[in-house]
Amino acid sequence: MQTNSWVPLFPEQASTFAWQVDLLYVYLIIVSIAFSIPIVAAIFYFGLKYREKEKYATPDEMHGSIMLETVWSIIPFVVSMTIFLAGAYVYYNQFRIPDDPAMEVYVVGKQWMWKLQHSTGQREINELHVPVGRKVKLTMTTEDVLHDFSVPAFRTKTDVVPGRYTYLWFEATKPGKYHLFCAEYCGLNHSGMGGFVYVMEQRDFDNWLSGNVSGQTPVEQGRDLFENKLGCASCHAGGPQQRGAKLEGIFGHDVKLVGGGTVLANEEYIRNSILNPGSQVVEGFQPIMPTFKGQVTEEQLVSLVAYIKSLSGAAGTTSSSGDAGAKQTASNSASNSTAASQGNANKQGSNPNAPAANSNR
Ligand code: CUA
Repeated sequence: MQTNSWVPLFPEQASTFAWQVDLLYVYLIIVSIAFSIPIVAAIFYFGLKYREKEKYATPDEMHGSIMLETVWSIIPFVVSMTIFLAGAYVYYNQFRIPDDPAMEVYVVGKQWMWKLQHSTGQREINELHVPVGRKVKLTMTTEDVLHDFSVPAFRTKTDVVPGRYTYLWFEATKPGKYHLFCAEYCGLNHSGMGGFVYVMEQRDFDNWLSGNVSGQTPVEQGRDLFENKLGCASCHAGGPQQRGAKLEGIFGHDVKLVGGGTVLANEEYIRNSILNPGSQVVEGFQPIMPTFKGQVTEEQLVSLVAYIKSLSGAAGTTSSSGDAGAKQTASNSASNSTAASQGNANKQGSNPNAPAANSNR
């Protein structure tokens, strides 16, 4: 399974965008060679041809050549634009997270291991099992320092940054076992912070899933934290006494804040609201929520985020940075009418997040 890529020395190509990255890379190498060789050859040629033959000779004056200057401007322009366009295409494919991933995995990095959890509950350490031919989305953060989740065979990598969520996606194209690395120096055992991604046929993957104790899913863990362990529900559970902002249906929508701004309710917003509740207070509410900084681990935060997402029926959707907000997936389309009416309500000045007089909870 080593290097059967069509490019010598390259790792195996095992994702849908691997060939794109390789093609761009090979193109860059060819362009570099195509310029380097003539330049070096010209240096030697001119060095010989125009070498000093007579002391203090005055060269002929040269008044430029429109033709020559046009050619040496246009050719590099065209070449650099092809590099730009191809690079933008490859980048867009990689870093625009699909709206409809077939599965989601939560990743928490720490010195020096990767902790992964499937949305069905299975946990893994330094290993990730995925089905072939399905879009897999990773939502990642870290407990300590900056790491970088890198799978060379998939030709993709993304920094995993303290205090925020980053995303990575891939679609594996063939079953196999592929190296997984931390690709950002993160301390003493950085080099040991790796593992394997196991790409399996769907049937084998289903067997693997059912053969592993799933325990609670992230959504269930989040609900447990929300309702019991952290007591969030005492303020956020709805009803006439509701003191905390409504959480149902907010995910993926704009939320009005005290002071007039709005913020998109994405993973980042939920996380920040738990850790820094005073920084983004929802319109119509008092800044009474205590911070949960230091009381919840990153894994618990991931579960809480998953649970609050699930309140909007948005289990499979996210807003990644960049094109957030504009997305609605098919699975989410049922809530589109609600979204639209909420949007209208916003325009009319009422706050959909304010406590409802006739709550349905
Ligand atoms: Cu984690 Cu290097």
